[in-house]
Amino acid sequence: MRLSRSYQPRTLDEVVGQPAVIRQLKRLVAWPQPCCLLFEGLGGVGKSAAAKALIQDLGVCPFSGLVEYSASNLSIDEVRRLFGQTFRLRPMAGNPWHVLLIEELELIVSRHVNAALKDELGEQHMPERLIVVATSNDASGLDESLLQRFEVFPFSAGPTFAEACQERLAWIWQQEAGPYVPMPLGMEQMGWRNGNYSMRRAMTALGGALELRCGEEVAA
Ligand SMILES: Nc1ncnc2c1ncn2[C@@H]1O[C@H](COP(=O)(O)OP(=O)(O)O)[C@@H](O)[C@H]1O
Ligand SMILES: [Mg+2]
Repeated sequence: MRLSRSYQPRTLDEVVGQPAVIRQLKRLVAWPQPCCLLFEGLGGVGKSAAAKALIQDLGVCPFSGLVEYSASNLSIDEVRRLFGQTFRLRPMAGNPWHVLLIEELELIVSRHVNAALKDELGEQHMPERLIVVATSNDASGLDESLLQRFEVFPFSAGPTFAEACQERLAWIWQQEAGPYVPMPLGMEQMGWRNGNYSMRRAMTALGGALELRCGEEVAA
């Protein structure tokens, strides 16, 4: 299994390098309230991972409490059904809250869906026990009035994020390769491209180094 899947953070505590965001999300876990959050940042910085960890920490049931969409698949009928029925019912298990996770919000194609969401997420309509989490690599093209419904959480792809990732990567390496095996050389450079760091990219590189090591061990 890919390292990024097997080491996907299970709780907010395992999401590294985004301290300001995580602090606020933990506050939401302690005192849940209806809200619309937008996680914005480049690929591989932990937006989807943080969303999943938040859902887990909230104790929301992944079957009856979580509704997950890629924005490009969200149709007007789905929006009507979700807000007209699903979010009016209490989830059958776990926390009484629903989470609507919309990945890649910038990919909403239909202006009808855009308008319906804008309407449903307005303060007058927002269901009592709903938390909306959207992710986006770049929200600059989003309709301004839809964007206004969301509180934006910027995810960093800079040096402090990269540094926090090194520690987790070293820990993952130890789990996989054994406690006394040194990290491959040049690991600090692995996740960087064009001045931005991606943990996904770094984990893919680490996975490659592990495979190489396994191959060498078999050959020896
Ligand atoms: N901040 C982070 N803390 C811990 N792991 C991370 C972080 N960011 C990325 N990862 C790892 O990389 C994988 C891909 O990250 P993901 O959350 O899907 O990125 P995106 O920002 O593109 O949604 C995750 O499953 C996780 O294993
Ligand atoms: Mg994502």
